[in-house]
Amino acid sequence: TSNYLRHVESMMVLPSGAGEISHLNAVILGEALASEENDLVFPCEEFSRQALVPSPEKYLGMYKRSITDPAGFWSEIASEFYWKQKWGTQVYSENLDVRKGPIKIEWFKGGITNICYNALDRNIEAGNGDKIAIYWEGNDLGQDGSLTYSSLLEKVCQLSNFLKDIGVQKGDAVVIYLPMLMELPIAMLACARIGAVHSVVFAGFSAESLAQRIVDCKAKAVITCNAVQRGPKVIHLKDIVDVALVESAKSGVSVDVCLTYENQSAMNRQDTEWKQGRDIWWQDIVPKYPTTCEVEWVDAEDPLFLLYTSGSTGRPKGVVHTTGGYMIYTATTFKYTFDYKPSDIYWCTADCGWITGHSYVTYGPLLNGATVVVFEGAPSYPDPGRCWDIVDKYKVTIFYTAPTLVRSLMREGDEYVTRYSRKSLRVLGSVGEPINPSAWRWFFNVVGDSRCPISDTWWQTETGGFMIAPLPGAWPQKPGSATFPFFGIQPVIVDEKGTEIEGECSGYLCVKSSWPGAFRTLYGDHERYETTYFKPFPGYYFSGDGCSRDKDGYHWLTGRVDDVINVSGHRIGTAEVESALVSHPQCAEAAVVGVEHEVKGQGIYAFVTLVEGVPYSEELRKSLILTVRNQIGAFAAPDKIHWAPGLPKTRSGKIMRRILRKIASRQLDELGDTSTLADPNVVDQLIALSDC
Ligand code: WTA
Repeated sequence: TSNYLRHVESMMVLPSGAGEISHLNAVILGEALASEENDLVFPCEEFSRQALVPSPEKYLGMYKRSITDPAGFWSEIASEFYWKQKWGTQVYSENLDVRKGPIKIEWFKGGITNICYNALDRNIEAGNGDKIAIYWEGNDLGQDGSLTYSSLLEKVCQLSNFLKDIGVQKGDAVVIYLPMLMELPIAMLACARIGAVHSVVFAGFSAESLAQRIVDCKAKAVITCNAVQRGPKVIHLKDIVDVALVESAKSGVSVDVCLTYENQSAMNRQDTEWKQGRDIWWQDIVPKYPTTCEVEWVDAEDPLFLLYTSGSTGRPKGVVHTTGGYMIYTATTFKYTFDYKPSDIYWCTADCGWITGHSYVTYGPLLNGATVVVFEGAPSYPDPGRCWDIVDKYKVTIFYTAPTLVRSLMREGDEYVTRYSRKSLRVLGSVGEPINPSAWRWFFNVVGDSRCPISDTWWQTETGGFMIAPLPGAWPQKPGSATFPFFGIQPVIVDEKGTEIEGECSGYLCVKSSWPGAFRTLYGDHERYETTYFKPFPGYYFSGDGCSRDKDGYHWLTGRVDDVINVSGHRIGTAEVESALVSHPQCAEAAVVGVEHEVKGQGIYAFVTLVEGVPYSEELRKSLILTVRNQIGAFAAPDKIHWAPGLPKTRSGKIMRRILRKIASRQLDELGDTSTLADPNVVDQLIALSDC
């Protein structure tokens, strides 16, 4: 049926030599073998024996079924969840080909369900009411708390009742701007319970970005807290919200209710700016509501949430996920990719402000009835051993994080790790960017004591859940490769012309046919959805990533091929940073490129041209960076500002980023042909100003 399937079958012949060494426990052959491609790390037998998917053969059997009979495969899984009413005769319908009409993806249409009910009530009815749903660890040592499934449900219901009381109805949008308090997943679930659409905005975004998102979805209410502690710093979130609400009102969206959680460890209510009539303290009102709340039953295709993400051009895109397919997909990917067992204690370091926190802090784990650790603080506070302190404290078994954190902790030395036991750990995970083999090895050898498989999960805000990731008990791994597709996913690599290439190859990563967790549209802009993702290579979903496939069929992600940079696993559009820079009154033009960064993966490198007659100075540099912090958020602040009296442009005025990238990364002997530039001299000038 599919080329991909044939390809997977052919790769079932395991790499040569595998048979001889597969009995060894977790062998690292890195030193012995020449290239990463040949570097196989086998799951230890003990792990595989207990794994949900214990062998490549088992994986292949399930994978084959998922591709040849997606309807049967997914509806069997979906039947394990609660549906008020079953979906119609068609499990899914799709059109991913722009040439055949509008792009459409639907799963379980006509099925009536509720994701909050499935995550909480269903698990409580199954006897897990007293199981811990969330362990919360605060910024400072000794600050902690926990909620059982039953008590979580009560808190969610109280907030749902409050939201209903202020007039939030099914389909209305609620913006959530909270740090990693338990109230963040509570707020998400409370919205889901009443069919409201949540739009979580990462609490590191600036007032301006928050306002933009409030306006775009016409939020009915905003949920926030007064302040948050991050390491030694206190950030006054409510002040940021106040500014954002003034801004959004100017654009015609005035929000009547700002529910504010008093985060006492960071700031007292007396010190918080307050707008009577609009602002309400969470603690004063929410606990007064009943602890039960009827579920709003929704169609599988009703929207669950919006989450904005950066693209290569213009404004952030409001990625829309719907209820049914997302529910089934996040639950299933969580279960298999982490080899989840009910006794696991799971900790994902991601913030719920990003997709990872949506799918793998809140929904995926809770749908499985898992115990989740939620950590409010900074991973290196009070010292770089904090993560392992938390692992030991809660006996974390599955630890999921980002390469940037791995790299930054790796720099601090092994002692911070080895002073903790970590013996509870059994599965590690990585997400956000390609994990470089040396970080992989450190994560595996030092953190996991060469005992815990690493699930390197490639996926995106748009995909809802894992797309390419190793099933930890099944495959020998190669450090730095995300390995093979999850059930139901058909990744294809295409060339410039959009032709599928097979075997050992590299090109653009696309996906053929839909999967339940796929996003359905961009909020209010279906055309942009089609243009960005489905027009570049007709017939496929285009991920925006480059990828190669080696002789054994392993996938190696090579990074974004569009104008998106990945800084510490955060997606930032170069166009967004450029437009922030040029809003500075003294900046005439800006061109932003990504450069390799030891810890962050990529850093932001900005070339700026100043308004005629303005001299470049240290003060101006700082003020340009501040402008970006204010417009987007601190995480998007350029690492380097490079003063550019002129930018390399073609005669038609197009900035040649290729050249800028080379200058930024000091690969001056690789500048290539500069003769087509309108003024080739600007290149020498830029190089001369490099260290300015
Ligand atoms: C990158 C985060 C390599 C990739 C879940 C993708 C990765 C973008 C990996 C999505 C990985 C994420 N290996 N690259 N394991 N995971 N990426 O939407 O470039 O914030 O397109 O979703 O991150 O970022 P997003």
